[in-house]
Amino acid sequence: MERNTMNTPLRMFVLLTLPCYSAHGQFNPFGIPVSVHAGKFYGMSPRDHICGGVNYRSLDFTCCEGVRHKGAGLSCCGKRAFSLTQASCCTYSLEPGQLTLNVSQLVSDCCGLRAYDPLNQLCCDSRILNRTQPHAKCCGKEPYDEDNQLCCGNIIEGRKVLAKMSSHHRCCGDHQFNQQSHCCCSETLSPEPLNASCCASSSSNYRGNDASSPNCMPGERPCGRGACFNPTTEGCCENPTSLQGKRYLRHQTCCEGILSRNPCKTAQGPYNVASCGSQVYNPDINICCAGQISHRVLGKNLCCGKTPYAVEDRRVLCCNQTLHRGVEAGHQCSPGGHLYLPSREIVCESRVHLNNPGKHCCGEETYNPQDEICCNGHKHRRLGNMSCCGGKAYDTSSGQMKCCAGTLYDLQVQGRLTEDAQCCGNILMEAGSTQTCCSAPGLDLLYPTQSGFTCCGHRYPNSSLWSCCAGVLHPRSERNTTSMNMIPGPRLLPLGDLKTEDLCYTEVLLGTVESVSMKMNERSIVMVNAMSLLASRGNVSTLPSPLYHTLPDHCSSPELVPGNTYIWVKTGFISDLSDHSSPLHSILSRC
Ligand SMILES: *[C@@H]1O[C@H](CO)[C@@H](O)[C@H](O)[C@H]1NC(C)=O
Ligand SMILES: *[C@@H]1O[C@H](CO)[C@@H](O)[C@H](O)[C@H]1NC(C)=O
Ligand SMILES: *[C@@H]1O[C@H](CO)[C@@H](O)[C@H](O)[C@H]1NC(C)=O
Ligand SMILES: *[C@@H]1O[C@H](CO)[C@@H](O)[C@H](O)[C@H]1NC(C)=O
Ligand SMILES: *[C@@H]1O[C@H](CO)[C@@H](O)[C@H](O)[C@H]1NC(C)=O
Ligand SMILES: *[C@@H]1O[C@H](CO)[C@@H](O)[C@H](O)[C@H]1NC(C)=O
Ligand SMILES: *[C@@H]1O[C@H](CO)[C@@H](O)[C@H](O)[C@H]1NC(C)=O
Ligand SMILES: *[C@@H]1O[C@H](CO)[C@@H](O)[C@H](O)[C@H]1NC(C)=O
Repeated sequence: MERNTMNTPLRMFVLLTLPCYSAHGQFNPFGIPVSVHAGKFYGMSPRDHICGGVNYRSLDFTCCEGVRHKGAGLSCCGKRAFSLTQASCCTYSLEPGQLTLNVSQLVSDCCGLRAYDPLNQLCCDSRILNRTQPHAKCCGKEPYDEDNQLCCGNIIEGRKVLAKMSSHHRCCGDHQFNQQSHCCCSETLSPEPLNASCCASSSSNYRGNDASSPNCMPGERPCGRGACFNPTTEGCCENPTSLQGKRYLRHQTCCEGILSRNPCKTAQGPYNVASCGSQVYNPDINICCAGQISHRVLGKNLCCGKTPYAVEDRRVLCCNQTLHRGVEAGHQCSPGGHLYLPSREIVCESRVHLNNPGKHCCGEETYNPQDEICCNGHKHRRLGNMSCCGGKAYDTSSGQMKCCAGTLYDLQVQGRLTEDAQCCGNILMEAGSTQTCCSAPGLDLLYPTQSGFTCCGHRYPNSSLWSCCAGVLHPRSERNTTSMNMIPGPRLLPLGDLKTEDLCYTEVLLGTVESVSMKMNERSIVMVNAMSLLASRGNVSTLPSPLYHTLPDHCSSPELVPGNTYIWVKTGFISDLSDHSSPLHSILSRC
């Protein structure tokens, strides 16, 4: 209950912002926190599809403009497929999109057809430059620093960067002037002293006016053109053709824009009116079902879609707003709206199957849990100790496969050992230190390792430009380039990457974060449902609630989301278990 209420704003944000990222090759506005909804990008492709006229399995392939590519749930860049977390697609007018590798589209902008990281780079006149100031902007082809420099001139004659003589200096043509003593009357003339006559006219301002809707008093609402009414005491009678409105009191009636003291009349005389969609009808004679008016039959006062029916009608069932007649005894409506016979049939999503004893649903199909395993709606033969990884199944006891956020990797093919294979989101990282994984709640991004760069949430900034506090970037002022994060904080890792000896043979803490606050430089955390766990001995004990936990350095610790459940390992690792339906089971099954 508690978790749900806490998560609601987050989910709403997800829904509101998701469409911005759903199209491929899209410009990605700098500064939007994508981390909260990026989880949606993993494995989102639909079930069965036709690609270039051929049926393909969406569990293994992605289809881009009729071309089939290996890998599920990828994005398309023209005919090519790519992962949003590993590359960016830039398009320019009607050119086919071009891919830039090793720059995630979730954090990039496009510079012509090439993508770049706007935190560390700048796009000036279609050239990508390394950023040397956090707030640098472009002045034609050159970068400039708005605090100390001016960008004067124009596109035609060329722009130039000038060192600002004071904070009161502004551009006038291709030179600067002090706006406290002068004004700029024309780009081509020199600045005039403030008492010059042209200075007065250059600063005149004008007012806009808006006559489109009437200005109503507070509490009032517009009624047609040019009138207002108070909705608590009055009605608004709008003429449907002239759009003129009149306010009226409650004892009057409004008949098609005309006020009257009597019920509305038609040629047949006065009658009761009710509205049914855009029509009016007499409820004594007719019934309105889903916008359709039918003749009223005594007793038939229920609607099934557009059809009226009576509660005492026999052998009739209304499923999914469709009325089924002549229904045999024992039939029911399935939650999806199908008519079926539970003693003989089973409904899986939208398909009705004959029910063999012991069968369950797996997606639209049925399966037998005794000898099959169902992974995300895909069934597989059960062999040995099987677990699901996304829609696939694998044998966990062999140690040959690694599951990264629903994507399965065969380590033997790559000649890798299980213990040092690490995931970054749904990607298996290369061995060694050529890659850096930066994590924020819900999003892990992989970057080519660069010296002088440090993770900040899911971003990877040049640390001489930006400092980072708890996943939030701050521009470093040029005066202070000393590093802020002195004490290295705990790292956020996926549960599958925690070492068995840390997870199983030392005491770990499991708990749900209720709230987080800063106390001096420390991070203070309130946890509920906390337990201490020594898995190798099967020792689990509950801890007093609430439990107060302190991290020594707020800034160097990862962002923690209230409502999420974490495991805390003494060696300095934290893992977010919110995606695990049973955190305790997930931990114990690793040990
Ligand atoms: C992308 O990164 C991989 C691994 O770090 C590297 O092998 C590859 O050359 C990079 N590609 C580009 C285009 O930078
Ligand atoms: C930007 O920095 C990278 C890494 O230091 C370097 O390889 C590259 O040449 C630089 N680019 C420019 C345009 O200076
Ligand atoms: C990182 O920022 C510093 C300071 O502005 C700059 O000198 C350096 O070139 C940047 N490094 C890269 C690779 O962009
Ligand atoms: C503007 O002010 C300056 C000095 O304050 C004065 O010398 C000059 O005559 C004034 N010009 C006009 C047009 O008033
Ligand atoms: C339920 O009704 C909707 C709307 O008419 C329709 O799209 C859907 O296919 C129906 N479902 C079933 C199971 O018939
Ligand atoms: C399944 O796993 C358990 C515990 O790890 C092991 O004892 C058993 O032998 C495994 N079964 C198979 C068929 O691999
Ligand atoms: C620079 O930052 C450090 C650490 O935050 C601080 O101790 C120091 O006083 C700052 N120096 C200046 C000149 O602001
Ligand atoms: C289990 O853990 C509790 C609390 O950490 C401890 O007091 C107890 O001795 C442990 N029991 C065993 C059998 O390890």
